[in-house]
Amino acid sequence: MKSLRVGLGERSYAIHIGEGILSGIGRLCRDLGLKGMPAIVTNPTVAALYLSQVKSSLDSEGYHVTIIEIPDGEEYKSSSTLDMIYDGLISGGLDRGGFIVALGGGVVGDMAGFAAATFLRGIPFVQVPTTLLAQVDSSVGGKTGINHRLGKNLIGAFYQPATVLIDLDTLDTLPEREFLCGVAETIKYGIVLDRELFEYLLGTVNDLMRLDKETLLHIVFEACSIKASVVEKDERESGLRAVLNYGHTIGHAVETLSGYGAVKHGEAVAIGMAQAARLSAQRGYSTAAERESITGLIARFGLPLDIPDFPMEDYLKIIAHDKKKRDDGVNFIFNQGIGNFIIEKVTDLRSLFSDCTPAA
Ligand SMILES: NC(=O)c1ccc[n+]([C@@H]2O[C@H](COP(=O)([O-])OP(=O)(O)OC[C@H]3O[C@@H](n4cnc5c(N)ncnc54)[C@H](O)[C@@H]3O)[C@@H](O)[C@H]2O)c1
Repeated sequence: MKSLRVGLGERSYAIHIGEGILSGIGRLCRDLGLKGMPAIVTNPTVAALYLSQVKSSLDSEGYHVTIIEIPDGEEYKSSSTLDMIYDGLISGGLDRGGFIVALGGGVVGDMAGFAAATFLRGIPFVQVPTTLLAQVDSSVGGKTGINHRLGKNLIGAFYQPATVLIDLDTLDTLPEREFLCGVAETIKYGIVLDRELFEYLLGTVNDLMRLDKETLLHIVFEACSIKASVVEKDERESGLRAVLNYGHTIGHAVETLSGYGAVKHGEAVAIGMAQAARLSAQRGYSTAAERESITGLIARFGLPLDIPDFPMEDYLKIIAHDKKKRDDGVNFIFNQGIGNFIIEKVTDLRSLFSDCTPAA
């Protein structure tokens, strides 16, 4: 097992990464001094696979556990599902001494985290991410929230977990398409922040695809370390943290236009990164060889590169309404070579977008 710390003063916490560590959750909660009643928030898919292990670990430490199951899917990341969580917390008898264990992917983690941030004005929560995307990205850094019918993640709070426990064995049951979404976010860290990680990924595509645990431990640890260091410098995204949106401006538009679910978040990010790499090379921020190296890595994992064929006006409308828009432009993240970035305000979205043609 490897551990690292997210240093945020009194809100600091540890991230533990290893194999077969799910059954240590009860002991971990005791060691953290969590005394009250825990509520496990999960969904039926994950519950069928991992709930009994997590519950019996908490039981064996003498906790009286409440279980709250919410429906599976991004479409349920809503205020009505959040209400279901509050109902479960209240009927389970949780008080201010209680805490939440978020067991699942990014949807469960974001919603359970937001419930923890708001229930009784805030109770602790523990992240137990079970998708690669949640392990390398969403469980770290304290962004919690739900979707609104007018847009994704519009309601939320910055609220850090008490700890994060990442059991790599949970990836054994994850569908490959979901796994690849996490790979896309990991490639992102390499492209804009860490050339070594990028090169490591280039050299380990086959190992990762067969879920080699040593390789997974390395990339999850590196990804969490990179995210932790960004969050430590800019917890509330007033500057540097925006770099983590690399590939997301165009990716978000692709996701919205395709209809949520048709193109998954990580797949849309892969397309957005291929386009960002193209634009970065066009502006002279990187070489053609670096651009090819980036699109080549994305393609080797079988992730998509080409931007779906929707009218440019539709893309522009969504990008202009994107919440990353500031004043009269959009803060666009370009890669500078591989391992570095430039954030630039782009006001002429039309000309930016007309440069996006199929990247393959
Ligand atoms: N908070 C953040 O900083 C942040 C960052 C990135 C993404 N997100 C959010 O994360 C969400 C996406 O998360 P996700 O990609 O984990 O999707 P998800 O939570 O929907 O999980 C994907 C699917 O995998 C299933 N699943 C989870 N673990 C499994 C396992 N071990 N075995 C088998 N099946 C399993 C889930 O039930 C679900 O059907 C989005 O809502 C996005 O907005 C948040």
